Amino acid sequence: MQITLDTKPYGAVETEALVTYVFEDADAGPVAGRVAELDAAGGGLLKKLAASGEMSGKTLEFTLIHAPAGLKAARLLLVGAGKREAFSGATVRKVAGAALRYLKARSVKNFAFLVREDGATAETAQALAEGFVTANFETDKYKTEKKNGKEIESVSLLGYGDAEKAAGEKGLAAGKIIAEAQNFTRDLVNEPSNKLTPRILAEKAEAMAKEAGLAVEILDEKKIADLKMGALLSVAQGSVEPPRMIVVTYNPPNAKPGAPVIGLIGKAVTFDTGGISIKPADGMEKMKYDMAGGATMLGAIRALAALKPKVKVICVVPSTENMPGGKAQKPGDIQTAMSGKTIEVLNTDAEGRLILADAITYAKQLGVTHIVDAATLTGAIVVALANINVGVFGSNQEFTDKLLASAKAAGEKMWPMPMDDEYREFIKGSFADIQNIGSGKGGGSITGAWFIREFAGDTPWIHLDIAGTAWNDDAKPWLAKGPTGVALRTLVHMVQTY
Ligand code: BES
Ligand code: MN
Ligand code: ZN
Repeated sequence: MQITLDTKPYGAVETEALVTYVFEDADAGPVAGRVAELDAAGGGLLKKLAASGEMSGKTLEFTLIHAPAGLKAARLLLVGAGKREAFSGATVRKVAGAALRYLKARSVKNFAFLVREDGATAETAQALAEGFVTANFETDKYKTEKKNGKEIESVSLLGYGDAEKAAGEKGLAAGKIIAEAQNFTRDLVNEPSNKLTPRILAEKAEAMAKEAGLAVEILDEKKIADLKMGALLSVAQGSVEPPRMIVVTYNPPNAKPGAPVIGLIGKAVTFDTGGISIKPADGMEKMKYDMAGGATMLGAIRALAALKPKVKVICVVPSTENMPGGKAQKPGDIQTAMSGKTIEVLNTDAEGRLILADAITYAKQLGVTHIVDAATLTGAIVVALANINVGVFGSNQEFTDKLLASAKAAGEKMWPMPMDDEYREFIKGSFADIQNIGSGKGGGSITGAWFIREFAGDTPWIHLDIAGTAWNDDAKPWLAKGPTGVALRTLVHMVQTY
């Protein structure tokens, strides 16, 4: 799919569909501004549709007009954008994505998207590109008959004049890079565990790094053992598939002096059966997405390689299966992490925190000054925040505030969770330094976070629990069912603002 910016007046553009958006506005109604101007040239049909109540501007309401008067376009599609006061980049992204999927389903191959008056900015172009590219992603890779062998070939952005063209094109290019990285992540997350083992994930990460011009190092099971990564090994020992520790580095030659070195650490359990503390059969197939945190970090660094911020970033992705094989660890086993801390494994299904422990220790050894980890860590975060917000846990207020500001700017919903010292008591070990689950007092996502924090120590650290948000159980008008690629845009934005 090609996306370009065209400064031609919209009335002169020949396209299969001209798309724009309308607001729910109690005073002016949906036909105002540029849409009123367009309607006047077309004889006032839109005003009539608004007066009759057929077109109201409600969020994602679609009004499709064939052979619109006064335009060279074959169709005019108006997408409701809700209240003007609530309008944001997040709305633009959804409107763009929903329009693309609506038209694609109707076999349209090319369309033009007209931004509204005052909307011709770099930010709008970026959000539009992100909306189009993520909406165009389908999860039919393994279907021999593609459900809708329909393709969008080209999209053009309209409403930008000569004065706004450069800014628009810059936003467009950034949006494409970020959204393509997000689709790279989603593609990995969607792979079933027989097609994506830790070894295959490492190969894919290596190929990505080479293509993006990033340094890469893959630690195999032998190197992992040499480094005494006992926590990662304890999870891996139940599987015949060997683990991998994937390290991808973005090291810009022009890094700002005194800038932080950001560690992006992502959980990549390519399948989580629970191990000996085995999960119920119902819904277990979804545990192929237990590597979403790792895939998110690999996607983020892929985007950063192209966007070239002046900050060094090290991505560390521990990858393993969690299986109940004959050599599997058992509840009560005591393991020694790379840091030297001893861990009592009370539940083998709390494996994500174990592998993150060693990844964080290793990342600190590599010189990171700030850590963000992303993990499908707990079912408890789904109870707390459902599939709406990412749970954000942090040890440093300034750093956490920076991430939350980036989430807002990137249009991703994230919510801060408490990290009071009282919760730390829940994971005090009886027979080792710490235990891998809380002592039965609730707050499961917080005790999980505290466990990881023990290994981050004094290094400013943020943990993103994406168990509820990395996977869409139902298709959305702007996004296919399945992997979302959540948190990538926020992380990229945060690194770019140093
Ligand atoms: N991968 C799961 C968490 C998860 C649950 C992800 C639901 C996506 C959807 C994780 O490894 C896990 O099993 N966590 C346990 C922890 C418990 C044993 C303390 C959980 O949440 O039940
Ligand atoms: Mn688990
Ligand atoms: Zn897991």
